[in-house]
Parts: sequence; C-alpha cells; structure tokens
Amino acid sequence: MKETVVSGIRSTGKLHLGNYYGALSNFVKMQDAYNCFFFIADLHSLTTHPTPGDLSRTVREVVVEYLAAGINPETSTIYVQSDVPEVAELYLYLNMNAYLGELERATAFKDKVRANPDNVNAGLLTYPVLMASDILLHHGTKVPVGKDQEQHLEMTRTFGNRFNRLYNVDYFQEAMAFSYSDKLVKIPGLDGNGKMGKSNGDASCVYLSDTPEVIRKKVMRAVSDAGPTEMNQPKPEAIQNLFDLMKVVSTADTLAHFEDLYNNCAIRYGDFKKQLAEDMVLATEPVRSRINDITNDDEYLKKVVRLGAEKASESARKTIREVREIIGIKKLF
Ligand code: TYM
Repeated sequence: MKETVVSGIRSTGKLHLGNYYGALSNFVKMQDAYNCFFFIADLHSLTTHPTPGDLSRTVREVVVEYLAAGINPETSTIYVQSDVPEVAELYLYLNMNAYLGELERATAFKDKVRANPDNVNAGLLTYPVLMASDILLHHGTKVPVGKDQEQHLEMTRTFGNRFNRLYNVDYFQEAMAFSYSDKLVKIPGLDGNGKMGKSNGDASCVYLSDTPEVIRKKVMRAVSDAGPTEMNQPKPEAIQNLFDLMKVVSTADTLAHFEDLYNNCAIRYGDFKKQLAEDMVLATEPVRSRINDITNDDEYLKKVVRLGAEKASESARKTIREVREIIGIKKLF
C-alpha cells in the first residue's frame, strides 16, 4: 500500500515562490509515488477575517494554481478543507488534549501575536490543532511543507501520540515533514530580511501569476547594497537572500558565475538582478500560462472540486467513525 501524503496551503491570496518551492512543487513530485491529499486551507485563513467575497475568490485561485502547477486531480485528491466538515469534529476532539502552555509556545503563534496584537483569537492559538486534524483525518505520514511548518508537524505528532496514550490505542501514526532536498526549504523575500510571505508585503513576494514585467520590476527593486569591497567578503543578509533565490531558479553555472564575480568584487547588481529576474520569469512561465488557460474554466474546476470533496469525505468519514468509537461516543439508542 502506498504511504499517505497530506498537505495544504491557506487561501489567503495568490501563491508565491515560497509556497511553490516550499510546498507545491513537492506536491507535484510526490503524486505518483504516494496516496496524496492536497487541500485548500480555507478554514485556517479565517483567523484573519477575510470578507466572504475575498474568501471564495482566493479559494478558487488556489485550486487553479494547484492544477496549473501540475497536480493531477485523477490521481491526487484536491479538495477544499471546508467541503469536509469532519475536520472540524476531529479538531474539537483534539482540542481537549491540547494544552494552553504548549500552544502559546509555538513560534508561529508568538510571531502572529507580535505582528497583530489586536487579533489574538482562539483560532490562532489552536491553529496547530486544526493542522493536526487535517493530517490525522487521512492518516497522513508524509507532509510536504516549508521550514516554517516544522514545529507544527512536531505538535501534530504530540497530539496524535497523546490521543493514542489516552485511549490506549495504536491508532494515529506519526507524520513527518517532507522535502526532496536534504532539509526543509525557506525561500527568502525580496525585502532584505526574513522569508517570502504575504505578511511581509507584496514587494517581498514573487507570485506564480505575476507577469514577466511585474517580476522584473520587483526584482530590480529588491534590497541590495553598494557591493563588496573586499575579496571573499561574507554576504550581508539582503545579498545572501538574492543568491539563495538564484540557487532555486537558476542553473548551477549561473550561480557559480555570480558567486565568482561577488568574491572578486566585480559584481554589478544590475546585471545580477536582471539575470535573476529572467530566470524567475522562465521558472514560473509554465505555471503562469496554465493559470491563464484554466482560470475561467468553471466546468472543469467544478468537476475537480466535487470529485476531491467526494474522495476526501470518504476517507474522513471512516476516521471519524473510528475515532468516535475509540472515544466512546455512540448513540444511546
Ligand atoms: P501557508 O499558506 O502559510 O503556507 C503554505 C506552504 O507554503 C510554505 N511556505 C514557504 N516555504 C518556504 N519558504 C517560504 N518563504 C514559504 N512561505 C510559505 C509553508 O511552509 C507551507 O508548507 N499551516 C499551513 C497550511 C496547512 C497545512 C495543514 C500544511 C494547514 N493544514 C496540514 C500541511 C498539513 C501553512 O503554513 O500555510
């Protein structure tokens, strides 16, 4: 039997290169070897209170981008999280065994509290419990995610193991974060610090759907500095970030060429950025053109989403039946 893969991306807007190289490109690579469930995490996105219109628009965008990136809806299960309400039931059960201290210690939670002190809602606190529910609902054991999700996977294992211990069963297996590279990926943004992410602003992100002109503009404006003044000088963060991005989208030869120029104090950032932008345009081109092909194909999208909901619901209903039985929830008569 094939091992089960579960992963999702929040529907907070168009997907960027961080989502792509951290998660989506691995979804595509994994789909033939594993039994895959890939969902659009619309329930997770509610922590930031999107308007109803924005919510449904972004869910649709992410479905389109999953398909455009090459996920095959016949072999993988692509579904919208809220189409499978069983996840909310499992979330409720797991919440009974998730403790305030451990939830408050989660790095992502602490970051969000710092960034938005006026919106520290309970959904944000229990975000990792909902994530664990997504994974355990289908008995996922491999979870393709970026580096920022590593701790949440650890928490998923904690909640699953705790459930097993509490009810003296061997029901949930341990899920591991997965990437094809030797470690989980962190794609930096264009703004000189931190990772590429929507919360760092549009200028830090290159979206899969950005036109070549927009990509060129964003990259040319990326934060850099006056250039190296000593041979083999260590790179400041903003420059290292651009090299890290080049490592992802360019050939090894191109990267080596610019490393060499940097180390010899001969680099011209204009040329470096131009090359980086062109390689980003090239890397995103196949996805971008497929986005344009399918974005208005209502019939196709409807078929995909309905099929996904059916397949995911079947797996979810079985788990909920079994979990209720383990917990002792049954109809009295
Ligand atoms: P989200 O939407 O924040 O991120 C989706 C995926 O993209 C990865 N990612 C990155 N990877 C590398 N570098 C970056 N700059 C970068 N930015 C984003 C994230 O690591 C993630 O893999 N909570 C999850 C969504 C989710 C989920 C799940 C994932 C909900 N339930 C169950 C796996 C299993 C999240 O981070 O969404």
